[in-house]
Amino acid sequence: MTPAQTADLAASPAPPRPRRSVLYMPGSNARALEKARDLQADALIFDLEDAVAPNQKHVARQNILAALESGAYGQRELIVRINSFDTPLAQDDLAALARAGRPPDAVLVPKIIAPGQVIRAGHTLSQMGFPERTRLWIMIETPLGVLDIRNIAATSVDPSARLSAFVLGLNDLAKDTGARLTTNRDHWQPVLVRCLLAARAYDLAILDSVMNDFSDTDGLRSECEAARTLGYDGKTLIHPNQIALANEIFAPSADDIAEARTIVEAFAAPEAANLGAVSIKGRMVERLHAEIAARTLALAAAINQLRP
Ligand code: COA
Ligand code: MG
Repeated sequence: MTPAQTADLAASPAPPRPRRSVLYMPGSNARALEKARDLQADALIFDLEDAVAPNQKHVARQNILAALESGAYGQRELIVRINSFDTPLAQDDLAALARAGRPPDAVLVPKIIAPGQVIRAGHTLSQMGFPERTRLWIMIETPLGVLDIRNIAATSVDPSARLSAFVLGLNDLAKDTGARLTTNRDHWQPVLVRCLLAARAYDLAILDSVMNDFSDTDGLRSECEAARTLGYDGKTLIHPNQIALANEIFAPSADDIAEARTIVEAFAAPEAANLGAVSIKGRMVERLHAEIAARTLALAAAINQLRP
């Protein structure tokens, strides 16, 4: 099998969108917005919510509109986190964004606690004239949000909800639950798994929460490894020096790619046509593993296309 044929097999169905590193920046921080043009994050979240002081909301909106319209961020996905719908700021945020010459790829809505809020948010985007391609991302960061995560995820079966991704927010969850924000995250495991299952059951992307201590490289490595192991697509980040590690850990490694090729090619061989399981290096490999392998190759190909 030629590399091109392997790539063909790996390319179906839709190519995945790499979201290994998703960097937040305060909309009020013009320097950060400018610096992000040259950073290698897969996606950027321009924040209007908690990272922006109350008296800077207007300035932040103007900065973000200019950033969206600049076209200076290449192919990266651009997301704007608006203020919560519990505040009057949300409507003003959306009204400003709806006027953008280039609307964002997604609007990220914080503090979601119920399915009805997702449906209403999707309808609001439509009423305000956002194009179809502007998706809805939501923060999972409240106890009620986590408890009702399945029903929240299920809103995505209605296309008008526009829902396409979950973003975990453990800082807010710690505030509301009393849980500790320690380097060891074992106590968050049930939350991380529950949200992952809901996301996958409804074909949604899911991103891990931020790591506040941006000088702790070992801590970041272990959080990224743990989230990758659970199946998370990537990690939300707060500082440029976190990007390279997230890009490395959430990408298939050279070994992952080599193994995936071996599996895909094994099932593509004529002698495997009538087999459901084959043996590779002393291990059972089934057709479902070939699907996983094809996904790995498709993600690796999509990552390669990000960089010239
Ligand atoms: N995005 C883009 N650039 C960033 C950045 C970010 N999130 N965080 C820092 N930078 C830039 C700084 O502007 C600085 O640029 P320069 O020196 O080349 O001019 C450089 O990276 C180094 O920054 P540093 O001095 O180490 O950090 P800081 O003290 O300026 O900022 C924080 C520290 C935490 C305040 C800042 O990283 C930040 O605001 N992060 C995002 C917070 C956020 O959005 N939170 C919401 C979600 S939890
Ligand atoms: Mg929050």
